[in-house]
Amino acid sequence: MENDKLEIYRIIQIVDDIQGEIEDLMKNGDQNDPMVIGQLLAYAETLSIIKSACICDADKIGLDCDMDAMIFGAVQNGKKVEFERTVRTRNLVKKRFSENRPVKRETERSTPMNNIFTRVSIRKYQPKPVEPEKLEAILRAAMQAPSAANQQPWEFYVVTNKEKLAELSEVSPYAGMTKDAPVAIVAVYRRDCKLPSYAEIDMSIAMQNLWLETDAQGLGGVWLGITPIEERMQAVEEVLELPERVRAFAIFPLGYPAEKRGQQDRFDPNRIHFVE
Ligand SMILES: Cc1cc2nc3c(=O)[nH]c(=O)nc-3n(C[C@H](O)[C@H](O)[C@H](O)COP(=O)(O)O)c2cc1C
Repeated sequence: MENDKLEIYRIIQIVDDIQGEIEDLMKNGDQNDPMVIGQLLAYAETLSIIKSACICDADKIGLDCDMDAMIFGAVQNGKKVEFERTVRTRNLVKKRFSENRPVKRETERSTPMNNIFTRVSIRKYQPKPVEPEKLEAILRAAMQAPSAANQQPWEFYVVTNKEKLAELSEVSPYAGMTKDAPVAIVAVYRRDCKLPSYAEIDMSIAMQNLWLETDAQGLGGVWLGITPIEERMQAVEEVLELPERVRAFAIFPLGYPAEKRGQQDRFDPNRIHFVE
């Protein structure tokens, strides 16, 4: 429940920021400029992503229908975003929220995934151990990833042994932080999966889920590239004495963050090409 509230506050904050940007563009931007319209469309898309990542029962807090209206307004008219409606939405959401209405998760196992815009690489950790239930939530998120033919090629080694962490920190020149992490998850994939050529793609999706859930649990971590460098893969396999049937994919040291970093805004309208 507390987590849900925090997530909703974050959603409101992000939606507020985007609405501010939209209002600013509407007031100051040249509304015949295709770049301005492109930017408005991009904001609409962002709102749509936020909506689809929303963990709460959005209808219950009045977010859903009005957000739809906002997105519709932006997409349909480019320069005609409905401000009165968005301002009303903001107030409505805040009002309902402050009434402490119960917020229902879509399913018992839903986990917060709306932190795409805040997740960063964390390479410094507090010595504090990570609770087993948090590790389970992270691995649950990883295994929830889609995969080609639903082959789920993954297995995970949860390493807390200090000597092994130190050895893992030497398998690549960029893995040094592993020795100071309370735990590292080593993701591996089975050689004998249905569609082996898709295994590494599947693993990447699982890694992103794992990373986002790590962030959502108030922890931090970083993906250390092992695949596709054969030498590093073999080094990890030796350190952990992995069975022949699997290949090492990535190392993910994690823990309570001992550094604070902000995420870059990587949105670039030049990377979008419309084919109409
Ligand atoms: C496939 C992959 C491999 C990476 N390998 C390393 C690595 O070996 N060492 C490291 O410190 N960071 C590694 N990173 C983290 C990236 O440097 C980081 O994600 C990128 O600079 C963007 O920063 P951010 O994660 O804070 O948004 C890797 C990330 C990915 C996705």
